[in-house]
Amino acid sequence: MSSKLRQIVVTSALPYANGPIHIGHMLEYVQTDIWVRFQKLRGHKCIYVCADDAHGTPIMLRAQAEGIAPEALIERMYTEHLQDFSDFGVAFDNYYSTHSDENRFFSEYIYTQLRDAGHIRTRVISQAYDPKAEMFLPDRFVKGECPNCGMADQYGDNCENCGATYAPTDLKNPVSIVSGEAPIEKDSEQYFFKLEDFEDMLKAWFDDGHVQTEIANKMNEWLDEGLKDWDISRNAPYWGFEIPDAPGKYFYVWMEAPIGYMASFKNWCEANGTDFNEYWSADSKHELYHFIGKDIARFHTMFWPAMLHGAGFRKPSAVYCHGFLTVDGQKMSKSRGTFIMARTYLEHLNPEYLRYYFAAKLGPGIDDIDLNLEDFTTRVNSDLVGKLVNIASRCAGFINKRFDSKLSSKLSDDSLSQQFLAASETIAEYYDKREFGKAMRDIMALADKVNQYIDEQQPWVTIKDEVRFSEVQDVCTIGLNGFRQLIILLKPVLPRLALQAEAFLKVEALSWADLGDNLLDHSIDRFKPLMTRIEPVFIERMIEATKEDLVAEQKIQQGSGDSSIEPIAAEINYDDFAKLDFRIARIVTAKRVDKSDRLLQLTLDIGSETRNVLAGLSNAYQPEDLEGKLTVMVANLAPRKMRFGISEGMVLAAGSGETELYILSPESGAKPGMRVS
Ligand code: 2FM
Ligand code: ZN
Repeated sequence: MSSKLRQIVVTSALPYANGPIHIGHMLEYVQTDIWVRFQKLRGHKCIYVCADDAHGTPIMLRAQAEGIAPEALIERMYTEHLQDFSDFGVAFDNYYSTHSDENRFFSEYIYTQLRDAGHIRTRVISQAYDPKAEMFLPDRFVKGECPNCGMADQYGDNCENCGATYAPTDLKNPVSIVSGEAPIEKDSEQYFFKLEDFEDMLKAWFDDGHVQTEIANKMNEWLDEGLKDWDISRNAPYWGFEIPDAPGKYFYVWMEAPIGYMASFKNWCEANGTDFNEYWSADSKHELYHFIGKDIARFHTMFWPAMLHGAGFRKPSAVYCHGFLTVDGQKMSKSRGTFIMARTYLEHLNPEYLRYYFAAKLGPGIDDIDLNLEDFTTRVNSDLVGKLVNIASRCAGFINKRFDSKLSSKLSDDSLSQQFLAASETIAEYYDKREFGKAMRDIMALADKVNQYIDEQQPWVTIKDEVRFSEVQDVCTIGLNGFRQLIILLKPVLPRLALQAEAFLKVEALSWADLGDNLLDHSIDRFKPLMTRIEPVFIERMIEATKEDLVAEQKIQQGSGDSSIEPIAAEINYDDFAKLDFRIARIVTAKRVDKSDRLLQLTLDIGSETRNVLAGLSNAYQPEDLEGKLTVMVANLAPRKMRFGISEGMVLAAGSGETELYILSPESGAKPGMRVS
């Protein structure tokens, strides 16, 4: 273990208290949790804090839609979130809420410090106001085109495409997603944080390597463009903390959310007799790391260090951004059933499969991580079941049955054990640098070596030879000691498996420092299977269940008025339109698609030819009701390979969701093959 004791505070981004945790969120919590568990395993003091991000209008509106108080909603979400995290093995030292006394205290304190140092100014500005709903619109309730890159369908606070942050009024062609109306602009006084006061500090801080290079480059671009004031206030009605000297004005949720890190840590300090200032004072020598998604980098690498600095606190040692999670190479999608909730996953699969798979794919950069469901199945089955657990099951049988569960009193050959020890420092470095993929690769190479050793020794043959009988005990002792070392190396990733393995080996909780020891002359427990294979049907069931989650969620969303009418898409020119070849099609046959509860396979007659089209209509129509009907299809769409076959075009249908869909049909007289224009 490294000699110097480190004292570290670690955070993950605070999830909003208006919806469930999904596996995209879980990527970050698993990444952070692995890093924290590793530091603890090495003997460092590492405190992992987080909280629900419990304020803001979306939460207020969702509570209204459910007919409950926001306090009741955030309490329920808190319990659900914490349960999801804990079932995924994410072990916070403290999980708190931004709706807390500590957060109010620090928000007011930081604000007044900034104000008194002259970093706050007020200005009357014009903001998006929904004349129908009679409210100022929160940033994420206005959608339109990003003023920076032009990407359509972006929220009013930041762009998911280019990462720019802006005001909703900067959006082009905005619409309110509360009422569907175009918002008007209305004047009111707001409070601004003067970010430009921190330009030099931020420049130096980026140059000092506190953020990843890609992020520093992006932030430097923004610095070069000049720093704008940041609006930290919102008008009533707002669910949050009122600004002390400004009745009717509230702290913008993004101003007080990162302060929630401090609040959660302070709450932990109170319960654990620790001096908060030792960790957060400007001259603290302890370490502070924030793990976040790259989409919220600007909040954490510009606004947050500036706020901390301006209010007299320390800045983060580093902010570590990760990429997004894609599933099967595409953005997580509700209709494809890949927008998988943590709870749905847990109902079908062991969380440690996903922890391992994430670890195997994670590096220190901001590239997106793909969960390829086939690769996931193969890799988990091959690495965890086929290699790791297999070592224990191969050796334990002999030890349990033939040697009264007792290991040999010495290692007849310690070369494997020495190889593990030699490899472990590099593996430790990989963990520390968030090179988890490389760590997993090296650990699995060690597992291969143990399996090879057992293959070469062939204990199943030796056991039959009375003279060499005791060699089997030696071989299996070496194998099980290798297994024990693998468990230590994988413990940050597979904490639950490690617990089971410790019980099987009858040892106390293992730590990194135990890598050099061996279990000798020691009784183990009877072996029980530690992990089972993933069967493809488990994944299929999870995907189907995810589609059902979507229907339930849509009902709530529609209740809150959110997005029942989709905003108009970005403008296209006539040439774009003219490229589309719409044709009248007769539905000749319609059949259910085996194993899909969504798709119908349609055979379409378009005059000159027939087409095979897979359409997501099976929740809206009985197949036999469609046969014979005329409809409209896009006939020149490139064939698409889908999970259940190739689709040669698309049928036009109106509506959103899967149950409320209406195919388009022409007036009588139209014939298959006619062009629609
Ligand atoms: O993007 C989000 O989900 C925010 N709730 C993250 C907040 S992180 C921190 F600033 F609190
Ligand atoms: Zn953009």
